[in-house]
Amino acid sequence: MRKICVIGTGYVGLVSGAGLADFGNEVICSDIDHEKIEMLNNGEIPIFEPGLKELVDRNVTAGRLTFSADIESSILNSEVIFIAVGTPMGDKGEADLRAVESVATTISSNLNSYKIICTKSTVPVGTGSHLQKLIRSQCDADKEFDIVSNPEFLREGSAVKDFLLPDRVILGVNSDRAETIMRDVYRPLFINETPLVVTNIPSSEMIKYASNAFLAVKISFINEMANLSDKVGADVHTIARAMGLDGRISPKYLHPGPGYGGSCFPKDTEALVHTGEQYGVQFQVVKAAIEANKTQRHVILEKVQDLLPDLNGKIVAVLGLAFKANTDDVRDTPAIEIIRGLVDAGADVRAFDPIAAENMKKYYYSDLDTRDSVVETVDGADLVIILTDWNELRGLSLEDLKKRLRTPNIVDARNILSIDQLKTFGFNYRNVGRSRI
Ligand SMILES: NC(=O)c1ccc[n+]([C@@H]2O[C@H](COP(=O)([O-])OP(=O)(O)OC[C@H]3O[C@@H](n4cnc5c(N)ncnc54)[C@H](O)[C@@H]3O)[C@@H](O)[C@H]2O)c1
Repeated sequence: MRKICVIGTGYVGLVSGAGLADFGNEVICSDIDHEKIEMLNNGEIPIFEPGLKELVDRNVTAGRLTFSADIESSILNSEVIFIAVGTPMGDKGEADLRAVESVATTISSNLNSYKIICTKSTVPVGTGSHLQKLIRSQCDADKEFDIVSNPEFLREGSAVKDFLLPDRVILGVNSDRAETIMRDVYRPLFINETPLVVTNIPSSEMIKYASNAFLAVKISFINEMANLSDKVGADVHTIARAMGLDGRISPKYLHPGPGYGGSCFPKDTEALVHTGEQYGVQFQVVKAAIEANKTQRHVILEKVQDLLPDLNGKIVAVLGLAFKANTDDVRDTPAIEIIRGLVDAGADVRAFDPIAAENMKKYYYSDLDTRDSVVETVDGADLVIILTDWNELRGLSLEDLKKRLRTPNIVDARNILSIDQLKTFGFNYRNVGRSRI
């Protein structure tokens, strides 16, 4: 059991902190956002993530997990400090490391004993070495610390499961002492034979970007296949399935849709391209995936206009705002641009999301007309567009929907509705890569 503090208690920090406590460690989750810490101390969970409340409650009750807005004392009381603050996209596509650097500065003035400073935030290659120099330049020469890179691969919506049962753990280390402690932090996972990759810090930092960029490429690739399928009467789902049966390819991340969004792929692909440029390396494949992803939003808007050429004054019901199901995260969600396109074309947009509507209004469209149910949203609408694959939307009664719409137009941008049923109930429909089958 190790004494740990996780600085930054967001989607990654809170799940990681609670998960590390579940592994038997003593964890303090710390954040500059006092309101968030107060909520957590009152037993409330600031984000929507399935299973997180149970995980947090279990570990708080066991006395292994606490929350504190006092970052300095959290550091002083810990041996391993995970940095899990945000690394958003900067003006030129680079990862903005200001929050990471600010935490590093706080750590350098609180090195009361040997500490491991571990980046869990997604940080570009070279950050470990940068932090090593930064902290060394700000603390007394006799202070002992090691930098470790331990990128996180959890996915929002299944984050708890992903953290507790990961496909692999990556440790970028530069000392045996740090490696021994980090192996101990994750010990229960290795009893279960979770693969562990121990490497140097630059490789570890790059593994995260390589993985995310590869998945983004896969998504853009299948979206372009879907766009051609639409023109030629092919079924992209059958294509993806058959591709996935090839063990070299894997069926995962071959789901066509409105393009990737969320807090990771958009910024991480841009950051990788930016890092490449700094070193004179052109990431042409990744750049193409980014461009294709931007185009995909417009492909969806074209499908809307294909069904309703004149959107002026038409009521469009947008179902789903989160960038994927089972999360309230709306960062870079395709819905942002698609709603903008609809509004610009004169449509009267109403929207529904089981969880994420509040965040959409808070961060992007304060005056968005959001409704509390699917029924309220679709009543009298001229077109429905599905943007998130929530189970609630998968189970829509198309018979009921048909009765409620003014005109039975539907764009299923997630391919979650049955084509047979859409045909049976007489919908004019478009989806992604199956429209003409
Ligand atoms: N969200 C994901 O699915 C995911 C998955 C893997 C990796 N990551 C990476 O993890 C990192 C965190 O992402 P997130 O989605 O959890 O972000 P987030 O915005 O949900 O959380 C970041 C937290 O850090 C806090 N914070 C900011 N500056 C701080 C400071 N100086 N001191 C203390 N706390 C501070 C914020 O208040 C916030 O609570 C990013 O680098 C991201 O790329 C995210």
